[in-house]
Formats: sequence, C-alpha cells, structure tokens
Amino acid sequence: MSTPAHVAIIMDGNGRWAKARGLPRVAGHKAGVEALRQAVRAAGGLGIDWVTVYAFSSENWSRPQSEVSDLMGLLKLFIRRDLAELHRSGVKVRVIGEREGLQPDIRALLEEAESLTKDNRKLNLNIAFNYGGRDEIARAVRRIATDVAEGRLAISAITERTVADALDTAKIPDPDLVIRTSGEMRLSNFLLWQSAYSELVFLPCYWPDFTSAHFEEALRQFRARERRFGRVERDVVSSSA
Ligand code: IPE
Ligand code: IPE
Ligand code: MG
Repeated sequence: MSTPAHVAIIMDGNGRWAKARGLPRVAGHKAGVEALRQAVRAAGGLGIDWVTVYAFSSENWSRPQSEVSDLMGLLKLFIRRDLAELHRSGVKVRVIGEREGLQPDIRALLEEAESLTKDNRKLNLNIAFNYGGRDEIARAVRRIATDVAEGRLAISAITERTVADALDTAKIPDPDLVIRTSGEMRLSNFLLWQSAYSELVFLPCYWPDFTSAHFEEALRQFRARERRFGRVERDVVSSSA
C-alpha cells in the first residue's frame, strides 16, 4: 500500500512526558509544540498531503483552569510565531472545531491563519481545536435540520454525503491513517465519522518525543495493512476470478 494521503494525529502524552522529568505539565505542552513543528516539516518530505492534529478537545475544558489557560496561550504563541513560516512553506491552515466559546483574540488569530494561507498548496494542516466528534456531528445535524425546516432540503434527499458536507471537515478527505502517541488505545472523540475506515496506529512514545523516525514507523505499519472497506481479501478475489 502506498503513502497515506491524509494522516490524523492524536498528540497525546505531554503531561506524562513532563511528569517523568519532574517538570510541570505546561513544560510537556511546550515540548509538544516543538514536536508538532517537526511533524509538520516531516509530513511534507514524506509525501503526505493532509495532516490533521488534535490540539484541544471539547472535553479538555474540564482540566484545571490554569492548564486550560496555558493551552490557550500556547495556541496563540504557535500561530503568532509560526504562521509566517508555515505560509512560506506553502502550508494551508484550516481549523476544525467549535469557534463559539473561544476568546475573541483566539478566534481572530485562527481566522487570520486561515485567510493568509488559503491559496497554499504544498501541505494541508488542519488543527482540531475545541473539537469533539460528537459535538461536530450534533452541529451538523442542527444545520441539516434547519435546511429541512426552512424548506431547502427534503428529508428523503439526506445521504451520507449531506452529513459529510455539513461537518467541519467538508471537502477534506477522510483520514487514511490515525496515529495516537502515548500508548493509549482510544479515539477520545476524534474524527468519529471520518475515521470509519481509517487504519489506527498506536505508538508507545509520548508526543514530545515523536520524531520523523516514529512517523516513518507509523507509515511502515500502515503499508503492512490491507484495507478492505468491507470487501473480501484481495487473494480471495483473484483466486475465484
Ligand atoms: C496531550 O497531552 C495534549 C492535550 C490533550 C492538550 P496530555 O496533556 O493529554 O498528556 P497526558 O495524556 O496527560 O500525558
Ligand atoms: C485527546 O487526549 C485530546 C488531545 C490529544 C488534544 P486526552 O488526553 O484529552 O484524552 P483522554 O482523556 O486520555 O481520553
Ligand atoms: Mg492525554
């Protein structure tokens, strides 16, 4: 199997990385931002077209207030410091997740990042921020229901495509591969609809330790998989033909 066009990453393990070093959790998040920079650089070289990273979940609001505010601060810092460089490298930034409820200065930065980079073609970087798969689906249902209630859409015309197009990821292909670091083996509300047929790779390393070698290892595991999408194995098809 070839290189995945779209890789989605659950960047997990910042807190444990810091704890193992006797550092505060925020030190792990800072180191995690550096790992993100390197992963974005590596993705271009590996021939990947789309990268979606899980940066803050809709459930992460239940963390201590100080950690939430550290994470908000780091997002702002990341956009302020890295936007010019991302733009120079031809990265198109898109943010998925619920914008309502974010501070106005953060929303403005996210909009600036998207509008500055909208014509770039080298790599697509989607940042999932204040993102939850269930919340995204609920918002899509509200949009579709509004179209029905206002007479723009017939109930019988609702298809999988209608739902996909109402999600934050409209026009973004489904991820071929979802990588989660830190050894946890769950999706934690990430891309629930979109990952229906994604290959999942769980790596034991904490996110701040993630390097291009880990990226390559995940791609190696992906290439060893056979994606069937509900069909029979290739061998069975060819031997019965
Ligand atoms: C991932 O690392 C970053 C975010 C969720 C924002 P964690 O902060 O979840 O780190 P662990 O899982 O506690 O080690
Ligand atoms: C998922 O990690 C969210 C991000 C990586 C941003 P969590 O650390 O929040 O997930 P759980 O709580 O371990 O499931
Ligand atoms: Mg975690």
